[in-house]
Amino acid sequence: MNCCVIGLQWGDEGKGKVVDILAESYDIVVRYSGGANAGHTVVVGGDRFALHLLPSGSVRSNVNCVIANAVVVDPDTLLKEIEGLAERDITLDGRLFISENAHLVLDYHKTEDRLREESLGKNKIGTTIRGIGPCYADKVGRSFALRMSDFKDLSKLKDKLRNIVEYKNKVFAAVYKAEPLSADEIFEKCKLYADKLLGFVTDTTELLHRAIAEGKSVLFEGAQGTLLDLDHGTFPFVTSSNSSSLGMPASCGVPAKMIDEFLGVCKAYTTRVGGGPFPTEQDNETGQYIRDRGHEYGTTTGRPRRCGWFDAVAASYSVTIGAIDCIALMHLDTLSGLKEIKICRAYEIDGKQTCFFPSNITKLSQASPVYETVDGWEEEITEVSDFHKLPAGARNYVMLIEELTGKPATIIGVGPKRGQTIFR
Ligand code: GDP
Ligand code: IMO
Ligand code: MG
Repeated sequence: MNCCVIGLQWGDEGKGKVVDILAESYDIVVRYSGGANAGHTVVVGGDRFALHLLPSGSVRSNVNCVIANAVVVDPDTLLKEIEGLAERDITLDGRLFISENAHLVLDYHKTEDRLREESLGKNKIGTTIRGIGPCYADKVGRSFALRMSDFKDLSKLKDKLRNIVEYKNKVFAAVYKAEPLSADEIFEKCKLYADKLLGFVTDTTELLHRAIAEGKSVLFEGAQGTLLDLDHGTFPFVTSSNSSSLGMPASCGVPAKMIDEFLGVCKAYTTRVGGGPFPTEQDNETGQYIRDRGHEYGTTTGRPRRCGWFDAVAASYSVTIGAIDCIALMHLDTLSGLKEIKICRAYEIDGKQTCFFPSNITKLSQASPVYETVDGWEEEITEVSDFHKLPAGARNYVMLIEELTGKPATIIGVGPKRGQTIFR
């Protein structure tokens, strides 16, 4: 069985928790999109892990981990993560494989991300300032791109870095009046990265195909969410990669045909960090209730997440373009205590109702949600492990989401820990 786990909303759906749970039955877990903009939380007993680049399977020491071609790797963050796990007696030696084709996020990318966002003022995208957009732009532009394989020839890397940093410094000075960066300092850091990371670098496409041919099972871990996809999300308020499941084959060199199941992860409500339209947003007491109970603050940046009702139009769109087979519905516990819960089942745009999500934000900004209001439930449900023992309000709510998305919720999250999960 090969399975792809993918966020159905604007990220932070609980993918880390789901991947960690499923990883127990897989040989390999693969991170395939984005970079250190991601923050995937895994809670094991009293231990909490926040992973930015390593696959969430990495906390299980018998699972092999792959970082695929289209991930943009910030070597500094990755090293800190590897060392952080080593301090907790989890070693990646011999079981981490990083694509030689994965692109490098270096200091000048993070500088450029920050300068651009600052210069945009209220028109900024609200990025994580992890250098993601500038790195992917260099990848597409090709001339100034560096990949993991560049660590193999340090003297060539030194020359390339001099050229790149000279160019970047001219732009930083002319456009932003910013201080120049030192190519030599960046090169010194790269020597260290090369020394510590080259042992993990390989051809991951070959590795994955060999493993699948041998009958090994592979779990593909998406980052961000479908609505943040560069081509299919709410552009320009998106990330710079194909973060929907459509990005998986391109990143890994593994065709979608080889995937047995696409599992979509969503929360029982909706959140978003950064700018952009959000039709069901509740910038009010309800939103604050959800934020407080769900601890809705960014895993990567600590920013408060914007919160709102479940948007079945948006989730169904993600189900459709992602060929989703079943759903992991997380954070059901967060909604306990609400007398009434609203769910958006259609949009009204220009006086007409539609159930198909318009990814174009000009249209999306005009959408008013058409809500159905259902009864909530009082009880805390964090200890419930059987679907039939959930309060009637919670069961009906799950079944309504299944009806509106057309897919079964086979996993239900009732808390952050591994055990706080209902399987159906
Ligand atoms: P990811 O980016 O999709 O992996 O999600 P994040 O880790 O950024 O955010 C999800 C947050 O919700 C983390 O703090 C998780 O520990 C937590 N979480 C995951 N599932 C559940 C759940 O079912 N209930 C509650 N209360 N918390 C959850
Ligand atoms: P995980 O994998 C939530 C959002 C940022 C911003 C936009 C662009 O943890 O779900 P970027 O730094 O990528 O250029 O920022 O995308 N964003 C995320 N939001 N979860 C994420 O990852 C995100 N990764 C990027 O907040 O709005
Ligand atoms: Mg996250």
